[in-house]
Amino acid sequence: MQCCGGKGKKVEDANASGIDVKKLDHILEKYRSVPGSLITVLQEAQEIYGYLSMKVLHYIAEQTNTKLAKVYGVATFYTQFRLKPIGKYLIMLCQGTACHVNGAKSVEAALCDELGIREGETTEDLLFTLNNVACLGCCSLSPVMMVNGETYGNLTPTKARELIKELRNKHMESKGA
Ligand code: FES
Repeated sequence: MQCCGGKGKKVEDANASGIDVKKLDHILEKYRSVPGSLITVLQEAQEIYGYLSMKVLHYIAEQTNTKLAKVYGVATFYTQFRLKPIGKYLIMLCQGTACHVNGAKSVEAALCDELGIREGETTEDLLFTLNNVACLGCCSLSPVMMVNGETYGNLTPTKARELIKELRNKHMESKGA
């Protein structure tokens, strides 16, 4: 496969139980006296945990004396915030015009089938997240997808499935399996 340089399933709160909210304390302390800093606090929290679990949102609400509904409302309003964990491999599948015309939908169908998820979801093993995105800027290689910053072009459903298998194997090898 050629490289040109380069939301989740029902797993959220199963993972959230292991989250150490105390890691937020220095951030909460830093912004305690800064009015209107909720978005910044949420951004920094997301940097720490990769996403905003309900446990984290509860803790932020409690520690900042803010209603949970408000914290939750801000977290769900802005698309930059993720309320579910993302996989180790974030697949961004281009659905721009060139990719669409050249078969991005059939690549998407193959990926969904191979991964057992729908677009926007994360596999239960937290290995893959599949997101559709707009033009990635590599239209001459369409259809294209990017995985953790690396771009794969001239995709076919078969190539996309192979890549997933390669990444799974790579992960297994890294685990020493
Ligand atoms: S339309 Fe897919 S990379 Fe441009």
